[in-house]
Amino acid sequence: MSSVAHGGAADTGAELKAEIAGLFDRSAPTYERVGVEHFADLGRRLVARSGTSAGQRVLDAGCGTGAVLVPAALAVGAEGEAVGVDISAGMVARARAEIDRLGLTQARAVTGDAETVTGLDGVSTAPGSFDAVLAGISLFFFPRPQAAVSRYRELLRPGGRFAVSWWGRQDPRWEPVFAAGAPYGTAGSSHRLPEDSPFRSVDALHAVLTEAGFAGAETVEEDCVTRFEDADHWWRWVWSTAGRRFWESVPASRRQEAEAAVNRELTRLQAPDGSLSSSVRVRFTVAGRP
Ligand SMILES: C[S@@+](CC[C@H](N)C(=O)[O-])C[C@H]1O[C@@H](n2cnc3c(N)ncnc32)[C@H](O)[C@@H]1O
Repeated sequence: MSSVAHGGAADTGAELKAEIAGLFDRSAPTYERVGVEHFADLGRRLVARSGTSAGQRVLDAGCGTGAVLVPAALAVGAEGEAVGVDISAGMVARARAEIDRLGLTQARAVTGDAETVTGLDGVSTAPGSFDAVLAGISLFFFPRPQAAVSRYRELLRPGGRFAVSWWGRQDPRWEPVFAAGAPYGTAGSSHRLPEDSPFRSVDALHAVLTEAGFAGAETVEEDCVTRFEDADHWWRWVWSTAGRRFWESVPASRRQEAEAAVNRELTRLQAPDGSLSSSVRVRFTVAGRP
């Protein structure tokens, strides 16, 4: 549920990419480890939507700890190959540990830029060499998502598919929570996309895909419900995700006040047992390379 401010047109995005790598390096130790299954569920849904099947070669752009990569590796099976790329070495280390734990010899994770997909250690990136490119909750972090999708079109064989998951509307009940914290941080709201973002609407993303040479883009929208035992649990989860970026920007001297303001709003959302739930919309877009 996060986006970041993008640089100007001439910006190659190197600075932003370094910032994002650092952000996810700091999230990596706890990402998807605080007792909330969030990304793993979305990853399985993206792989199912992508139609990935046995024997295929798949690229997972922004693989993180493996939420998409692992189900993709299971779908392609021992005869296929699933390659994950992530800019955060910390996230890649987690993905590798999971691949090893599960004995998925058909999977690998490498540290690199999934926007350009160049210079990846030991990975062939010949044009037309992938059956599918997947991007789970990652593409909107890239400074130039348009360039990324053009690159994916090049990497896909004719008939190959690009499948991406991204956020639809936030849970309106949570707006007061984010509004309560907003005045305290200097980082942009984690819920606002730049005006020219291809992720501002389904039509905008479809247009970008068409311009990059994809055909038949289709988007389905589903619920993504996340449950927390109590407010503390929600806070631990926020710090395990990119949502920490906003909270890192709150000066230490104001953090207590900011947290109290947010906690007041959380109280209003809590069920009688203290639990919290959030229901946002997640979009799955799939397009074909003619
Ligand atoms: C919210 S996480 C999603 C990770 C994973 N796909 C999942 O579903 O859990 C976003 C990931 O995108 C990665 N990322 C952001 N920009 C990237 C880039 N330019 N190249 C590769 N990975 C990038 C981050 O490091 C992070 O691991």
